[in-house]
Amino acid sequence: MTFLRPIIIGLIYVVTVHTIELPHPLSDEFIDLINTKQTTWRAGRNFPVNTPMKHIKKLMGALTDENLKKLPVVTHTQELIDSLPDNFDPRDKWPNCPTLNEIRDQGSCGSCWAFGAVEAMTDRVCTYSNGTKHFHFSAEDLLSCCPICGLGCNGGMPTLAWEYWKHAGLVSGGNYNSSQGCRPYEIPPCEHHVPGNRMPCNGDMATPKCKRTCEDGYNVNYKKDKRYGKHVFSVKSEEDHIRAELFKNGPVEGAFTVYADLLTYKDGVYKHTQGDALGGHAIKIIGWGIDNGTKYWLIANSWNSDWGNNGFFKILRGENHCGIESSIVAGEPLLVEV
Ligand SMILES: *[C@@H]1O[C@H](CO)[C@@H](O)[C@H](O)[C@H]1NC(C)=O
Ligand SMILES: *[C@@H]1O[C@H](CO)[C@@H](O)[C@H](O)[C@H]1NC(C)=O
Ligand SMILES: *[C@@H]1O[C@H](CO)[C@@H](O)[C@H](O)[C@H]1NC(C)=O
Repeated sequence: MTFLRPIIIGLIYVVTVHTIELPHPLSDEFIDLINTKQTTWRAGRNFPVNTPMKHIKKLMGALTDENLKKLPVVTHTQELIDSLPDNFDPRDKWPNCPTLNEIRDQGSCGSCWAFGAVEAMTDRVCTYSNGTKHFHFSAEDLLSCCPICGLGCNGGMPTLAWEYWKHAGLVSGGNYNSSQGCRPYEIPPCEHHVPGNRMPCNGDMATPKCKRTCEDGYNVNYKKDKRYGKHVFSVKSEEDHIRAELFKNGPVEGAFTVYADLLTYKDGVYKHTQGDALGGHAIKIIGWGIDNGTKYWLIANSWNSDWGNNGFFKILRGENHCGIESSIVAGEPLLVEV
């Protein structure tokens, strides 16, 4: 039997090495580990330690989207690409478009696909009109009334959100409890920052019902309130074409794979370092730049302004990092009322 001992010890060694578990993604140990492993971004606490992972996984509601291939693909001219600046923040180009600063909150619902879409549509009414027209598209209307988009709070597809905008239109609507627009968001923000007085996040919110009426006190008819998209398209999966689209026309919706370390993002340029894939997540990309030699995309998340850098984050640009350059969707708004 003794000749087996080295083999058994070897096996135990192999098994042990391969089952060393990473610290829990919301633990201080995990945050410290990330901060020792990379230099381009800083990790910290965004979610309370006891936030259920069920809530967190539910936030990643971008479903695999085969329809992307069916959209027209926009490319831009070399002339435009050659003229692009090294850094671009749309808030400088369109100072009269306040929603470029806005961060919304999807609550405990996998509605990122709807948020990324309505946020970019809202900005685009403003950018296409050079700051003269404003319309705050309702996440609620898209989330609850689009029958082709997917599964509501259990996830949806960005491309179909934009198609729905073009074919069925969307009404206006502000954030939770805002009393703004036709259909404000009905799912409350939950406490995904340090302990506070919001309700805890539990991942249990059901998709709101589709109501084809405006909230009391909003004196426009639901149908009359609708605004539409004129064209819907994707953008060629190359850094330069995406930059040109952002510069010329405004923010776009993108999707990427979220790994556990993104949950801890505070500032700097995010590069995936450690942690498991949690799911596909849709967001709004607004600009780009270079920090200390690292190229990034500037992105608005929909996890409230107490997440990340006032609700925004930067992610590595030019390498299709986590798939960020591979599924860009956008459109042109119809600026006349129909
Ligand atoms: C867009 O609006 C800005 C600010 O009002 C103005 O300075 C600029 O000339 C406008 N650009 C175009 C192309 O109309
Ligand atoms: C929303 O508004 C209602 C009525 O004003 C209030 O009772 C409730 O506390 C508000 N909820 C939040 C999360 O602010
Ligand atoms: C750039 O690097 C310097 C030195 O490492 C650091 O102090 C600074 O915070 C970095 N700036 C950004 C924007 O990351």
